[in-house]
Amino acid sequence: MKTITINPGSVTFEVNEEETILSAALRNGLIVPYGCKDGACGSCKAKITDGSVDYGLHQRRALSEFEKSNQSLLLCTARPLTNLEITANVLSISKEYQAKNVL
Ligand code: FES
Repeated sequence: MKTITINPGSVTFEVNEEETILSAALRNGLIVPYGCKDGACGSCKAKITDGSVDYGLHQRRALSEFEKSNQSLLLCTARPLTNLEITANVLSISKEYQAKNVL
């Protein structure tokens, strides 16, 4: 299990093994931008500020090699390899979201 922190706002949640960041965010009550949920549209693009990911299967038009080298990822296909800090828009947080304390 890995911990994700989304900034701005230091919103944190946990991702289970083999779970994508988008799936975990939605499961935890966080609404972030997304569209196809399949690595094709690029709507869920975000930036890594710390940590590393398995980018998963995606179309190059949704995330290019250049974008990957500049720390971009797709929330719908990426799986964290480490605890991760990313920059992304959190559109809303449901009442089911429970903040996790991070030391
Ligand atoms: S939601 Fe379409 S690429 Fe992630």
